[in-house]
Amino acid sequence: MSPGMAERRLDGKVALVTGAGARGSLTGTGQATAILFARHGARVLLADRDLGRARATERQIAEEDGEASVFEADVTDEQACLALTEACIERHSRLDIVVNNVGAFGPGKVTDIESETWARALDGNLKSAALVSKFAVPRMAAGGGGSIIHVSSIDGLRAGASHNVPYSVAKGGLITLTKAMAVHHGRDNIRVNCIAPGHLHAPFVASMTEEQLELRRKAGPLGTVGDAWDVAWAAVFLASDEARWISGVILPIDAGLLAATPLAVIEHLT
Ligand SMILES: NC(=O)c1ccc[n+]([C@@H]2O[C@H](COP(=O)([O-])OP(=O)(O)OC[C@H]3O[C@@H](n4cnc5c(N)ncnc54)[C@H](O)[C@@H]3O)[C@@H](O)[C@H]2O)c1
Repeated sequence: MSPGMAERRLDGKVALVTGAGARGSLTGTGQATAILFARHGARVLLADRDLGRARATERQIAEEDGEASVFEADVTDEQACLALTEACIERHSRLDIVVNNVGAFGPGKVTDIESETWARALDGNLKSAALVSKFAVPRMAAGGGGSIIHVSSIDGLRAGASHNVPYSVAKGGLITLTKAMAVHHGRDNIRVNCIAPGHLHAPFVASMTEEQLELRRKAGPLGTVGDAWDVAWAAVFLASDEARWISGVILPIDAGLLAATPLAVIEHLT
């Protein structure tokens, strides 16, 4: 559904989305968010360490007469995060919205931890969001404030079926970061919120079997398949002025999964 002019919620705003490309053929959460932001009138800076992926999103936005440009940055690198936020100000003179969407897998139980995997997961999911925010906050504050959205996971709130301690610890850290930033930068009129997607049908699932995908669908009380667009619609709301009094919130987008105890959904799984 494409909004008409009267329904454009982000008109005049400048948004930065990290990980705005997508691996493979399924739409990624950063990609869908960038496309919806542009449909809602935002000028979007598409950051990705893979320029080709960011350009694919840029092309989709251009085909719809939206406004977007790309910037190559590995957001685990501090200097790249500085350059990214500076580029945003150079191109658009302001920064209103940041979506810290980049993630990195981190498999294993605590007994499986390897320093390299641990560092990759913590850097990719948590350090990246903190570093982009480090340089974005003063620039947003200078323009009168804005909205920062971190993309965590239900794995940051509960232990999942797949063993992924480095990933879930990093995603849990994003939740703490959300609350700290919401408190510390509230007086700058910067709202900081966090989206926690559940069993999405997004690039992440490319290697899963049909059986695994079906189990993921059935585990949610709604029993339907969610995708990147479900995350993107929530991001549009949290980025918009309609959410002007919402800060420090963790919003699960999970078909009701976190509301259920395991026994509550077992009838749907067997
Ligand atoms: N798909 C799910 O089920 C699910 C569930 C919960 C949370 N998430 C989270 O959603 C987010 C997006 O996941 P996805 O599967 O849609 O995206 P994805 O894996 O397709 O990645 C999106 C883009 O991020 C880029 N990227 C990766 N690391 C980067 C870095 N260090 N710097 C800059 N760009 C980088 C990639 O090149 C890619 O184009 C992640 O944070 C993920 O943890 C996904």
